[in-house]
Amino acid sequence: MQPLATDTSIAVIGAGAMGSGIAQVAAQAGHRVFLLDQREGAAEAGRQGVAKQLQRRVDKGKMEQPVLDELLDRIKPIKELSELAEAGLVIEAIVEDLEIKRNLLANLEEMCGKSTILATNTSSISVTALGAKMKHPERLVGMHFFNPAPLMALVEVIKGLATSDEIAQRVYATAAQWGKKPVIATSTPGFIVNRVARPFYAESLRLLQEQATDSATLDAIVREAGGFRMGPFELTDLIGHDVNFAVTSSVFNSYFQDTRFLPSLVQKELVEAGRLGRKTGQGFYSYAEGAQKPEPATAEAASSDAAALIVEGNPGPLAALVTRFSESGLKIIERDGPGRLLFGDAVLALTDGRMATERAAAEASNNLVLLDLAFDYAKARRLAITAADQASSQAVNDACALLQKAGIAVSQVADRPGLVVMRTVATLANEAADAALHGVASISDIDLAMKAGLNYPEGPLRWSDNLGFSLLHTVLTNIQQSYGEDRYRPALLLRKNRFAEKGFYS
Ligand code: NAI
Repeated sequence: MQPLATDTSIAVIGAGAMGSGIAQVAAQAGHRVFLLDQREGAAEAGRQGVAKQLQRRVDKGKMEQPVLDELLDRIKPIKELSELAEAGLVIEAIVEDLEIKRNLLANLEEMCGKSTILATNTSSISVTALGAKMKHPERLVGMHFFNPAPLMALVEVIKGLATSDEIAQRVYATAAQWGKKPVIATSTPGFIVNRVARPFYAESLRLLQEQATDSATLDAIVREAGGFRMGPFELTDLIGHDVNFAVTSSVFNSYFQDTRFLPSLVQKELVEAGRLGRKTGQGFYSYAEGAQKPEPATAEAASSDAAALIVEGNPGPLAALVTRFSESGLKIIERDGPGRLLFGDAVLALTDGRMATERAAAEASNNLVLLDLAFDYAKARRLAITAADQASSQAVNDACALLQKAGIAVSQVADRPGLVVMRTVATLANEAADAALHGVASISDIDLAMKAGLNYPEGPLRWSDNLGFSLLHTVLTNIQQSYGEDRYRPALLLRKNRFAEKGFYS
């Protein structure tokens, strides 16, 4: 499908944070852009905002002044809907309110030509519901940009029940032409990103509530072992707890209160206290002048008399860690066994979703110390561990000494099912697999959305494949059994992969 030609005019309605960013994107792609806002002076201010943003690029020598001048000439603030009649694509980015958006769409249907595509940047309203009262709902499509629109690559192209395939494809091609990474999704609550990302926040919030460790340590584990750019607490402090809590609550209620999306009381408390994050100077962390961010809990330097690491059987994803130990000069002895590592008194294994205490009892292995998942064991700077209640302090000491030998900081957390990164990745993949099952988007679009929209180090479904087709299913089954909660029920596609012995991409 061809994108809209560059000589097609684009109209953006609502010149707030999103609308002016979208106007910038379209103008940068060479289109003439009409910008309209009901607030007096807002469209002009939106244009000025674009000018200010791009002037920085000019000042840094990354853009020529005449290029900026031409670009700004292409953005035309307008005052009346009638002035945008010639636009080939109208994108609304006005207030998030169903009735107000419906009214605007009704007016646009009157005002624009038959072939004009109408797009909505809504982040939470059903595109189907927005189109329900239109004369031609087939021409309405979601075009969901992320904030800030000029910088964020992802655009979710949302199809309502009536949206024509051709229009969705045309908008997809246009977004790609504008340098974005578009994905196609059906109009379901939270679309892709705002749905699939929920566990990223929810599981850490829950681990915090369960006293697994503190927020700074969880953030450090998610960043330094998980490979995520920001931890869940620093990220929600940035997003604003009011906004993040509202999205979670909206997705939870839209899915008829499925406990998988259960909002967190810890976050509700913050909202009620007005501790909304950076914007109020206090969230999980203080942003007062001179405030220091708390350090993550890190095990003190330990030493061990153990002379070699015994690798019993296939260590699975821990193989890269074994290589790292070997490269740090440690002698490795391989022998048959159930896929675990022995060092001094410590018996180490990758978490399988059971608590260490439960697994130690089941495997008659008192000194069990479980290791968390890392995105890349060859590079992880930190790793979470947890010890069985039965484990000796010598076993914990030996586990810390082993990891420290390879330059890895150790954060010991309380014994909770699935540790931190494994639990986060398993629940993200679970949500992604369910979204795929329900036809929200294709497997590759779901992964792309999570990477381009949130900078995840890997798409959750590809990540699941990389870990082996059955691991995350086992982890979720065990977490579900530990809590006895429906929240952790493994997605059907993860279960299917396990029996088909294949992954999402194979
Ligand atoms: P904003 O409050 O910064 O801007 C909205 C603008 O629309 C205001 O300037 C307001 O005067 C104008 N407006 C309201 N009703 C209007 C009408 N009937 N006609 C013309 N102009 C009208 O809001 P923001 O953040 O830019 O959000 C706009 C839309 O984008 C919402 O639907 C929101 O859900 C969605 N969105 C927001 C994201 C964000 O992170 N802020 C991300 C993705 C989507």
